[in-house]
Amino acid sequence: MTASADNITWHEHSVSNEERSSLNGHGRALIWFTGLSGAGKSTIANAVDFKLHQRRVHSYLLDGDNVRHGLNSNLGFSEPDRIENIRRIGEVGKLLVDAGLIVCSAFISPYRRDRESIRDLLPAGQFIEVFVKASLETCELRDPKGLYKKARAGEIVNFTGIDAPYEIPDKPEIVLDSDLFNVEQLAEEVLRFLSARGLLATE
Ligand code: ADX
Repeated sequence: MTASADNITWHEHSVSNEERSSLNGHGRALIWFTGLSGAGKSTIANAVDFKLHQRRVHSYLLDGDNVRHGLNSNLGFSEPDRIENIRRIGEVGKLLVDAGLIVCSAFISPYRRDRESIRDLLPAGQFIEVFVKASLETCELRDPKGLYKKARAGEIVNFTGIDAPYEIPDKPEIVLDSDLFNVEQLAEEVLRFLSARGLLATE
């Protein structure tokens, strides 16, 4: 996105992102969990973040509901608001990755185009899209916050999977089947991917 303000200049920094990262002894990346509400994104992202921390990796967790309490408290669930929600989170994620972290983010992020924009924002290999796959039936059965019930009753409109779209990723780096495997197994699958990519070099 280009800046809308005039008279602003991009500043070059003396410390490069590579130099910042080199102090950590591990790689940096934005692990982007996407999927329906109730698919398990937040739970798995939290488990991955915990495992990274245990391995002394500098990590951070950006979580859907929490970000909507602060940075994005002025946004709802209309299409333009979701686009802006994801755009801001992508920019924040990029700043954290530039600072040398492995960032886990857990947002429905229903639009393919928005997820691809974030991929384009980061250098090749630093955006890792993780599709947390669970059927709508499973998510509705879990219904941890009782929101599907409300959406079916018409008490919530624009609910993803009910009367708002979810666009399945075309080529995600990882697909996690949360219908078939538990949180521990799925978090380990992500760790194996990160390890194979050489991002956990402190091992
Ligand atoms: S996104 O679509 O903009 O990426 P985000 O991940 O931030 O959504 O927030 C989703 C969470 O908000 C859901 O897990 C659910 O708890 C809550 N929520 C409230 N209203 C809606 C709605 N209309 N559609 C989807 N999720 C909703």
